[in-house]
Amino acid sequence: MNIAVYPGSFDPITNGHLNIIERASTIFDEVVVGILVNPDKKGLFSIEERVELIKRVTSHIPNVRVESFSGLLVDFMKNNNIKVIVKGLRAVSDFEYEFQMSLMNKKLSQDIETLFMMTSAEYSFLSSSSVKQVAAFGGCIKGLVPDEIIQDIMSKFCD
Ligand code: PNS
Repeated sequence: MNIAVYPGSFDPITNGHLNIIERASTIFDEVVVGILVNPDKKGLFSIEERVELIKRVTSHIPNVRVESFSGLLVDFMKNNNIKVIVKGLRAVSDFEYEFQMSLMNKKLSQDIETLFMMTSAEYSFLSSSSVKQVAAFGGCIKGLVPDEIIQDIMSKFCD
């Protein structure tokens, strides 16, 4: 079975992420969305909340699984028998960081490959942090994240 991992922080998932997941799910038998548990970074959403939000917005894609992981991505991949990492590239500015990460992952584990998909032009400006910034200042996030999670994000800012 050809399985790919789509790793990230997903705090929260955006329409750009979802677009990559949907496209990857047509190429691979299974796409595992891997949410990094980063103890140094307190996110807007807890890991459990992120898992739930991603499950909710990917429920229409049967071959998507949502998991969290801590430590090295290559170790998570080994434990789950995954050989391919899928990443989205938005712009040239993403390239340097992603290139460095893919070389490091290759160094750590020679039998894995990183495949990059170009983000759809309509989402090329989008990031989780910009969504949080817009929401924090009361801006409209419709179209930036799936409709089903808009309320979850807005309610984080009006408690
Ligand atoms: O959404 P993000 O924050 O850009 O995702 C970054 C992520 C989770 C893909 C990356 O930080 C990661 O893979 N972290 C796990 C630690 C690891 O394996 N590091 C070695 C590669 S540099």
